[in-house]
Amino acid sequence: MKIGITYSILREEERIIRERAGEFGEVFMLHEKEMSFPLRLDLDVVIIRNMSHFKALYTAKLLEETGIVTVNPSWLLHEAGDKAMATARLEKTVPVPKWGVALSEEEAIKVSESLGYPLVIKPVFGSWGRLIVKVNDRDALEAVLEHRKWMGNPLYKIYYLQRFIEKPGRDIRAIVIDGEFVTAMYRYSEHWITNAARGGRGEACENEEVRELSLRAWEAFGEGALAIDIFEGSEGLLVNEVNPNMEFKTALKATGVDIARKLVEYAVRVAKA
Ligand SMILES: Nc1ncnc2c1ncn2[C@@H]1O[C@H](COP(=O)(O)OP(=O)(O)OP(=O)(O)O)[C@@H](O)[C@H]1O
Ligand SMILES: [Mg+2]
Repeated sequence: MKIGITYSILREEERIIRERAGEFGEVFMLHEKEMSFPLRLDLDVVIIRNMSHFKALYTAKLLEETGIVTVNPSWLLHEAGDKAMATARLEKTVPVPKWGVALSEEEAIKVSESLGYPLVIKPVFGSWGRLIVKVNDRDALEAVLEHRKWMGNPLYKIYYLQRFIEKPGRDIRAIVIDGEFVTAMYRYSEHWITNAARGGRGEACENEEVRELSLRAWEAFGEGALAIDIFEGSEGLLVNEVNPNMEFKTALKATGVDIARKLVEYAVRVAKA
């Protein structure tokens, strides 16, 4: 078995994945700075670990076109990695916070007025809570829209809006790989943005409802390795988003579950299957 791992920098996650992959065969570390396409690799599977959403997506797609199996597959990086596309899928299988997507400032204002304040406006791609802002009133909304207007990237003109959910000082991160619930943790934070990358603290979460909800969220996609963000809203659990290119060192420390092993086992199963 020849396993490739693409990466941007060797985080703790990539080091553990490399170690686990080594138990199944030969491992090839592929640094994105040294990659260009077309690229012909003699590998059975490639685990995609580029940090940038777009570099991950292009790497997966261009490798797939040469017959390489990638984990995750490019379609999943694309559809789960985009908050608007993912939410439209998720709401078919799980409860999600009230949301809307607008393609113009005028429409963003209309959607906001119907969602009600406070609300959260986010770019459709990205992680670590970047450019995610809470909007308490119409003035704040107009300020955000004005700033977005002059930002170069056309994706910033896709306005993803979500009702702000009052959380009990924490939210939940669950991991499902290939239809199997792997683990879940609570993320505690003083700030309403609870990301571990912003200092959120992890603690194991063992809860049957979370397990069942995570599996249903995974079913909306039906393939791959997904981290699932869940809020405990006043009306019950809500799925915020899914991450097809997950960081897991906080979950590993909080739960002791060997997430990297599950990921590698999955990659080995689908390798030239
Ligand atoms: N609608 C909301 N109501 C309350 N809190 C929210 C809402 N949306 C996001 N948050 C908080 O902000 C955090 C970051 O938001 P989200 O997970 O949507 O974006 P992200 O930047 O893609 O994060 P990740 O690194 O998990 O991919 C969430 O984990 C949550 O704590
Ligand atoms: Mg998140």
